[in-house]
Amino acid sequence: MDDFLGNLTGITTGWEVHRTFAPRRESPRFTRNNQALKMKVTVVGAGNVGATCADAVARWELANEVVLLDIKEGVAEGKALDIWQTAPISLFDSRLVGSTNDYAKTANSDVVVITSGLPRKPGMSRDDLIATNAAIVKSVTENIIKHSPNTIIVVVSNPLDVMTYCAFVTSKFPANRVFGMAGILDTARYRAFLATELNVSPKDIQAVLMGGHGDTMVPLPRYTTVGGIPVTELIAPEKLDAIVERTKKGGGEIVNLLGTSAWYAPGTAAAQMVEAIVRDQKRVFPVCAWLQGEYGLKDVYMGVPVILGRNGIERIIELKLTNDEQALCDSSAKAVKEVMDVLDKMQVTA
Ligand SMILES: NC(=O)c1ccc[n+]([C@@H]2O[C@H](COP(=O)([O-])OP(=O)(O)OC[C@H]3O[C@@H](n4cnc5c(N)ncnc54)[C@H](O)[C@@H]3O)[C@@H](O)[C@H]2O)c1
Repeated sequence: MDDFLGNLTGITTGWEVHRTFAPRRESPRFTRNNQALKMKVTVVGAGNVGATCADAVARWELANEVVLLDIKEGVAEGKALDIWQTAPISLFDSRLVGSTNDYAKTANSDVVVITSGLPRKPGMSRDDLIATNAAIVKSVTENIIKHSPNTIIVVVSNPLDVMTYCAFVTSKFPANRVFGMAGILDTARYRAFLATELNVSPKDIQAVLMGGHGDTMVPLPRYTTVGGIPVTELIAPEKLDAIVERTKKGGGEIVNLLGTSAWYAPGTAAAQMVEAIVRDQKRVFPVCAWLQGEYGLKDVYMGVPVILGRNGIERIIELKLTNDEQALCDSSAKAVKEVMDVLDKMQVTA
C-alpha cells in the first residue's frame, strides 16, 4: 500500500529501494527513509571475496561510504566504479571509493573487512597459505589501525582462525572488536544442502556449528530445525551424516570445481556480519571469537555462537554440549592452536 501510494503521488516512502525485487515485508534491509546509514565500511582486498562483500554492503545500504582497497594498481578503483554504476539499477545510495593502497581513504571506518591474501588452489589446505597471508594480514592491520583506531575488524583471509589471531595480536584491540567470518558460510552451506535434500526453503532452516574453519568444524545437528521442527524428524540419519560430511569439505568441493576458492557465499556472509554490526541487530551467528575459558578453552580463536551488534561481539553464548560434542570442539581447538603456534614461531606478529 505504502509503495502503491508512493508511486501514485511521487512521495518517497522508502519502498523504492527494493522495487526491483519482490516485496519483502520481513526484509531487515528495508530502510524507511531511503537513506544509507551514516557509517563507513572498508573492505581490504578487491579480489573475488572482497568485491562481492563490497557489492552487498553497498546494495544493502549498510554504509553511506564503502571503501574498497587493494594493492594491485587500479583494481579497487575499477571495481568500486563498476559497483557504483549498478546503483541506478539496484537503487542504492551508498557511495563507493576505490583505493590502491592509500589507507588515508579508509580513515575513520566503523567496520573493516580484511579479505586480502591468497586463496586456495586445488590440492592446498587452508593452512598452506599461512606464511604469505600472515605477512599480508599483519601489514594491512597495521595500516588500518593507524587511520581507524576505533574500528571493528572482521577477518576473512585464510587460514581463518589463525589470520584472525594475527589481526588481534597486531591491532592489540579488545577481542570484541576483532573476529572472523567462517561459521555463517559453513552453516549457509549446510542449510543449502539440507534445503536441496528436503526440498524446502533455505529460509526456514536454522542451524549452528562450532569449531575451527576446516575439516575439524563441529556441526551440531541436534540444534538444526526446519520451520521449528528438529531436522532429525525429517531426514534419515545416514543422509544427515552425509550432508554434515559434505559441509565439512564444502570449501574444497568448490576449489576443485573452480580452481580457486568460493566468493559469492563468503563475500555475502561477511556482509551479513557487517549488517549485524552497523544496524546493531544483536543477531546470533557462529563467529570465530577469542575464547577465554568458554567451553573450557583458553587463548584460542574458534567458531562459537555469539551475539553480534554495534559493539562487535556482545556476548559469547555457551551451549551445554554433550561429551562427544565437547571432544570434537577440543580437538578442533587443538588443531587451530597448532597452526597458531606455527604463526608464533614465525614471529610474523613480533
Ligand atoms: N573465511 C572464509 O570462509 C573464506 C572463504 C573464502 C575465501 N577466503 C579467503 O579469503 C581470501 C581472499 O580470497 P579471494 O578469492 O577474494 O582471493 P583473490 O585472489 O580473488 O583476492 C585477494 C586480493 O587480495 C589482494 N591483496 C594481496 N595482498 C594485499 C595487500 N597487502 N593489501 C591489499 N590487498 C592485497 C590481491 O591483490 C587480490 O586482489 C583468501 O585468503 C581466501 O582463502 C576465506
